[in-house]
Amino acid sequence: MRILIIDDEDSMRHMLSVILKREGYEPVSVADAGRALDLLEADDFDFILCDIRMPGMDGLAFLKALKDRGLARTVIMMSAYGTFDTAIECMKLGAYDYISKPFKADEIVLTVKKAEEREKLKRENQRLKAEALEEYDFTNIYTEDGKMISILGLVKKVADYSTSVLILGESGTGKELVARAIHYGGARAQKPFVTVNCGAIPGALLESELFGHVKGAFTDAHRTKTGLFQEAECGTIFLDEVGELPMELQVKLLRALQEGEIRKVGDTKPVKVDVRVVAATLKDLKEEIRKGSFREDLYYRLNVIEIKLPPLSERPVDIRGLALRFVEKYSRKFGKPPKRVSEEAFAVLEGYGWPGNIRELENVIERAMILEETDTIRPKSLPIAGPDAGPRTTTVAGVAPSVSTATLPATEELSIKRAQEAMERDLIRRALEKTRNNKTKAAEILEISHRALLYKIKNYGL
Ligand SMILES: Nc1ncnc2c1ncn2[C@@H]1O[C@H](COP(=O)(O)OP(=O)(O)OP(=O)(O)O)[C@@H](O)[C@H]1O
Ligand SMILES: [Mg+2]
Repeated sequence: MRILIIDDEDSMRHMLSVILKREGYEPVSVADAGRALDLLEADDFDFILCDIRMPGMDGLAFLKALKDRGLARTVIMMSAYGTFDTAIECMKLGAYDYISKPFKADEIVLTVKKAEEREKLKRENQRLKAEALEEYDFTNIYTEDGKMISILGLVKKVADYSTSVLILGESGTGKELVARAIHYGGARAQKPFVTVNCGAIPGALLESELFGHVKGAFTDAHRTKTGLFQEAECGTIFLDEVGELPMELQVKLLRALQEGEIRKVGDTKPVKVDVRVVAATLKDLKEEIRKGSFREDLYYRLNVIEIKLPPLSERPVDIRGLALRFVEKYSRKFGKPPKRVSEEAFAVLEGYGWPGNIRELENVIERAMILEETDTIRPKSLPIAGPDAGPRTTTVAGVAPSVSTATLPATEELSIKRAQEAMERDLIRRALEKTRNNKTKAAEILEISHRALLYKIKNYGL
């Protein structure tokens, strides 16, 4: 990390340089703030240590100049006796921290470390944001299938508008992926994308999750809470599993959509919201309407644009390309070289029914990327290749319904803990088989420590 030190006192510059170098930083020091500005225009520094009282341009003027020139940096001010008020002034002008002179070596090191930590977080945040934009845009939805291509054409067209979109499709067909693409590919991309799983939150709680509540609205409402609708202001709210929405909330959602306003639980006055609603469900909503469990008027509100994603079995041309993309993805994720996929393996993939759709395909490839030791994925690396390849018992990234129920006793099928255990046990057993009981190698493949492996072997009675 490069640090720019600005101080008119030679001894101070020297001392700071020595301390910071010892800590592994790269300090550069200058005696006046004007010169510092020139340096900053030409060169990049991670953060700045700046004295407050200096002849010529002082610390305060320096901060202002930084701002004017658009050179936003993390700045730590050094205030000598009598400049405390100015230090506060500096913080108001955007300085990150200040330290009072005289200070001890470890004091300044601590302050700098804190700033470094923040700098890293800031960068990480920026990176994640850039990644989110990149990861979720349309280029990430792979397809060569004619029907899918025209569906994506529709998705792209609606992205820039604020109309409600309803996405239908079986589990794992990419509903959430499409919802994100609509958001990140549209005019609201820089604003929040908020996901709510309507099936996962109990009805009573869901209302306050969605719309918020005022203090005292119910026994546990100790303070006013902002709902997800308001958190998504100017952005998009993704109502996943919207078919699970209880009737009384359907009415309230309808009102939110119609009037563009919501009401917090326990509040009398409505609040205006500007939120785009994208909803998804694997249920047949028309059937739900017939059964009386979904409101027809809400359906038509949500369904301004309907996007129906075909199951993977209806777009077999995509299996090959998707498999290769997932090989790439997990090779990057695991830091391993990509693997080839043999023609026989492709035939197995293309011959399978994919009840769990793309998510299941992704899990199968992820698993093969972990367990296959050679550079080629073959039928035997795939848990779907028939009886010889072993039971279809594991998924790595999630618990695909088609897979988990095979291993788990019916009464426990919803326990994530048990599903994870079953998955772990199976992965370990396979890793041991592959390595002919070489535990060191098995631990490596499993990416856990040798000790953790020994413990798990004992624990699972393998
Ligand atoms: N066309 C595609 N190209 C690349 N990856 C895809 C595609 N469709 C889906 N995926 C991937 O498959 C996985 C499942 O997709 P997603 O979570 O969007 O499905 P879903 O329809 O929301 O499933 P569920 O109904 O179970 O919630 C994700 O990891 C997603 O990135
Ligand atoms: Mg989903």
